[in-house]
Amino acid sequence: MKNSDIIAAIDIGSARIIAALATISPTGEITLLAFAETPSKGVKKGGVTNINLAQHAIDVVLDELQVNGNCHIHSIVTSLSGVSVIGNNAEGSVSVRGSTVDEFDVRKAVAKAKDAVFEDEYRLLHILRQSFILDRQTGIDNPVGMIGDQLTARVHIIGVAKTAYYNLLQIFSHRDIDVDHVVAGGLAAVLAVSTPEERQLGVCVLDIGAGTTDISIIHNEQIKYTAVIPHGGELITSDIAFFMRCTVDVAEAIKHNIDVYSPCDSKERLEIPGLGEVARSYSKQAVANVARERCEQLIDMLMQKIHNEGVKHMFPGGFIITGGGANLTGLKQLITERTHLPARVGKVEVALPDSLRAGCRFATIMGLFQCAYEEDYTRSMTNELKAGIMGRLNTQIRSISARIMKQF
Ligand SMILES: Nc1ncnc2c1ncn2[C@@H]1O[C@H](COP(=O)(O)OP(=O)(O)OP(=O)(O)O)[C@@H](O)[C@H]1O
Ligand SMILES: [Mg+2]
Repeated sequence: MKNSDIIAAIDIGSARIIAALATISPTGEITLLAFAETPSKGVKKGGVTNINLAQHAIDVVLDELQVNGNCHIHSIVTSLSGVSVIGNNAEGSVSVRGSTVDEFDVRKAVAKAKDAVFEDEYRLLHILRQSFILDRQTGIDNPVGMIGDQLTARVHIIGVAKTAYYNLLQIFSHRDIDVDHVVAGGLAAVLAVSTPEERQLGVCVLDIGAGTTDISIIHNEQIKYTAVIPHGGELITSDIAFFMRCTVDVAEAIKHNIDVYSPCDSKERLEIPGLGEVARSYSKQAVANVARERCEQLIDMLMQKIHNEGVKHMFPGGFIITGGGANLTGLKQLITERTHLPARVGKVEVALPDSLRAGCRFATIMGLFQCAYEEDYTRSMTNELKAGIMGRLNTQIRSISARIMKQF
């Protein structure tokens, strides 16, 4: 294996920081080489809140990854989430005056679409092409080579507030490391947990983290809607801590042991250690009700948002829930009950040479590798040309990994 084929990715969550090394074959097959994870520090709701703490946590995870992978990491692909991330659909048109559409026309139309919605205080993360319109013909995948008068590009644009973007870069600034790609966390999750059939039919992927929930709707293989809600699993934990008057750590352990959908045995009780007091006894159902109520509120808030945006009809395939919050027992059934849409849990396998880990919280890290491979997800205005798979590998993956050198 050549060193230049290795890619490093890091998912900086509010609860956990996960990093991994992998190779990607020309056909997109990901082989994991090494993995490291540590509790997150200095990051809340997807944004940096304490640079020193965040830098220390990054040091811990990257040092461990370097040891586990027996290499020195010089560049990485990373994710970004939080309310600073915004997604918008946009259209841009150019005149082609009866001639053949070429790549340059396509790029001009896409650029116009971007200019129509993009504001100066934001940094562009992704321009995701949806479709093209040539005169009156809609739904064109690739207009290059076709003849027409007016070309319109439909795109979904994801950007992030510049301050949030530069603060993310800042947590790597003390190390000799380049951040090659910053990927919207929700997008990475979509790629990791949905099948091509689901992306065609239309699904809504919810990456439920500790502090944020990333919403992404994909239909006809096109990203139609993205948004981030600044709430996640920690809200449920803090409710349990508040109502049961216990520490957050105790509440977290209790949360892993309740079911927010199926009623439990009415006689079952939980002895919950209080703050400096003797333990209190609560019926398990009462605790589950506290969590259920908050889940219902969050589901209703989500549906209201989706309804307001007019995108509810775009995901007949229902919900795929992932991220650590998707582990909450009964959540997928509760979502189905309240929304009348199917829901499934999107688990991801992390297959390392010496072990296999499976779970929802690996969705973003695995999606980051897929995004590094898929040209549509790493395309920027300076790299707008479509290329074949080998071309892609040459221009993106090889450039990403060129600086990752085996050292030991
Ligand atoms: N078994 C479980 N049952 C219920 N909740 C769980 C379980 N396991 C993990 N969680 C919840 O998952 C959340 C953490 O998920 P994850 O690791 O995806 O977050 P993150 O990526 O660090 O955060 P964010 O994406 O919001 O920045 C926590 O709120 C935790 O309580
Ligand atoms: Mg996350």
